[in-house]
Amino acid sequence: MSCLGMLVAVLAAVVVAACSDDSTSPADPHDAAQVASGLKIYEERCAMCHGRNLEGQPNWRTRLATGRMPAPPHDDSGHTWHHPDDVLFGITKFGLTPPYAPAGYASDMPAFRETLSDQQVWDVLAYIKSRWSPRAQEAQARFTREARTK
Ligand code: HEC
Repeated sequence: MSCLGMLVAVLAAVVVAACSDDSTSPADPHDAAQVASGLKIYEERCAMCHGRNLEGQPNWRTRLATGRMPAPPHDDSGHTWHHPDDVLFGITKFGLTPPYAPAGYASDMPAFRETLSDQQVWDVLAYIKSRWSPRAQEAQARFTREARTK
């Protein structure tokens, strides 16, 4: 292989390696500073509903008397980690409105577009991710990559 050919092959390998972990996500659970910022936001803005320990509200699968759903857990026992980055970002910023829920869907999940910056939304998602098991982190990173290539 020529020197240039070798260089191209090495660069391609580096790019593939960089894309196969979570370091390209704007919400990076391995970035300690981002996770620390996200923890503060989580405690102030999310914990009262989703639980200080991300455990969600009791009986979170059963509708409340109001007909609305309780806040689900954000740890491995919920389904937050089943969603790609863009969906988690969109739900946090815009609430459960289309395309994340049917039009007219009534939900207690607030939209944070006026109270959190985009960066703060990514920070709080980085914190939530940091509380997942490595398996859930890897699965969610895969869903995110798959959603990007669609
Ligand atoms: C006032 C209570 C409340 C607060 C505060 C709140 N949430 Fe929620 N959240 C909910 C409820 C209730 C749901 C489920 C809504 C439904 O299914 O109708 C939900 C759902 C979600 C979902 C979708 C989860 C899934 O598995 O589909 C995400 C993501 C989310 N919240 C993120 C956040 C973040 C991040 C914060 C803080 C910045 C936050 N929420 C603050 C009540 C709240």
